[in-house]
Amino acid sequence: MLKPVDATTTDAWTTLTELRSTLSPDLRSWFAEDPERAQRYCLELGDLFVDLSKNYLTDEVRDALAALAIEVDVPGRRDAMYAGERINVTEDRAVLHTALRRPATDSLSVDGQDVVADVHEVLERVYDFARRVRSGEWTGVTGKRIETVVNIGIGGSDLGPVMVYEALKPYVQEGLECRFISNIDPADCAEKVKGLDPETTLFIVASKTFTTLETLTNARMARDWFLEALAAKGVETEGAIAKHFVAVSTALDKVAEFGIDPANAFGFWNWVGGRYSVDSAVGTVLAVAIGPERFAEFLAGFHTVDEHFATKEPAENVPMLMGLLNVWYVNFFQAGSHAILPYAQYLHRFAAYLQQLTMESNGKSVRWDGSPVTTQTGEVFWGEPGTNGQHAFYQLIHQGTQLIPADFIAVATPAHPTKDGGVDVHELFLSNYLAQTAALAFGKTAEEVRAEGTPEEIVPARVFTGNKPTTSILAPALTPSVVGQLIALYEHITFTQGIVWGIDSFDQWGVELGKKLALEIAPAVQGDAAALEAQDASTQGLIARYRQWRQ
Ligand code: F6P
Repeated sequence: MLKPVDATTTDAWTTLTELRSTLSPDLRSWFAEDPERAQRYCLELGDLFVDLSKNYLTDEVRDALAALAIEVDVPGRRDAMYAGERINVTEDRAVLHTALRRPATDSLSVDGQDVVADVHEVLERVYDFARRVRSGEWTGVTGKRIETVVNIGIGGSDLGPVMVYEALKPYVQEGLECRFISNIDPADCAEKVKGLDPETTLFIVASKTFTTLETLTNARMARDWFLEALAAKGVETEGAIAKHFVAVSTALDKVAEFGIDPANAFGFWNWVGGRYSVDSAVGTVLAVAIGPERFAEFLAGFHTVDEHFATKEPAENVPMLMGLLNVWYVNFFQAGSHAILPYAQYLHRFAAYLQQLTMESNGKSVRWDGSPVTTQTGEVFWGEPGTNGQHAFYQLIHQGTQLIPADFIAVATPAHPTKDGGVDVHELFLSNYLAQTAALAFGKTAEEVRAEGTPEEIVPARVFTGNKPTTSILAPALTPSVVGQLIALYEHITFTQGIVWGIDSFDQWGVELGKKLALEIAPAVQGDAAALEAQDASTQGLIARYRQWRQ
């Protein structure tokens, strides 16, 4: 097995350590002294304009980070990933989400199989299905057209579809609505089926493994609701499942066991990680909602970024540079978290989506060869759309004691151009996006506060130290392609960080223990005395109190 390079032993790491010890970031002076700074650190990536200039970035830092990428062989591991090598070593799998968005004219042979041809074969089936639902050719059991599509999945089989559905709401076909059930809390299913007409509702059960407790439980609950609701309307339920339940999975045998006709199932492959799967058949709900043509544009957006990541030198490679900057902050400035702040209400689930992508990928403390990591890894990603966040948690980013690098994302053309008393509201919104990164970078000195006539005793409270690093990303509009580009950008940022840390960013063993224990604890919760006895004292006490309150 190829050993990960220990980043901390590289010359670049030594250089970065030296740079860190002498660098006192001063964004005010850096901008004042260098009129070219903004231009020098702005890069283009597909439709994305990426301004890195308000980061702790100098030419020396950039060059050392680029050298680090070379020394730990990010380009080599990237090429191995694109070529289908089994870089997910703990699961012995290839990692080929980039193949999901290659054009049909490409080919890529993995174990003698052209995976690009396989991808397009499934895509064509998904597109055909989507067209039939959208046109009304696919009907429910009583001949009515489908009006609501309910996706049942969790983790990667939910977060991507929900996020993109919300992001692309203006593209959703009129008369169609999608809902998403994920949580095993029965409240989720109960609320999501509320008000639905079973005759016009289609369920997509999405699960890579088709073994996930939450998804299979929700699918059974949805099936029960569906059959009961149909019967209550006096409709014959025989044969109804085939018209109202389809599935997405890598385990088509299990789909059949569940009772869904394999003809109504869309497959994918174990070389697609759950959190990297929204561009596979897991996106079927999206293909239905926005249509095959728009879905193809979404995939093309990913591909644009894949090409950039595959071909650009580290110092000009936006995802690589952003990943390296994250390493710079985590390992040299002890940044424990990273904020994602979209100034686009339609991206309100983007941070939640990125939490799985980044934290399930890089929340690890052993490297891919099983040895302990040699540095801090996996910062916490979090965020909310601006301007809402400004009135909630920005205080801590501006004046708290922790360094929180933040990505600000905005689009130029709004979906809803609106004026308020002659003022373009989107421009007011964008002014906030711009003002926040300026305030974070340049702050406000005590002299400036005093000059406003502020009483001396409250001057300290009103000082902004500035020097809070941010990246600004601007796109022309929130199109399907731009959403694909944004996702691919963060996929490759995550990959870059993982390689620097020597991590297998494609397994997720850390979620297993809790799943196993839940199954062991379930009988105790249900009253099995022996199972209760086997639990620790805290768990026993909680179960006792639960049972007392439930009776
Ligand atoms: O529990 C973690 C996880 O395995 C994720 O990685 C995955 O996206 C999610 O569960 C759902 O898995 P599946 O698609 O197999 O139902």
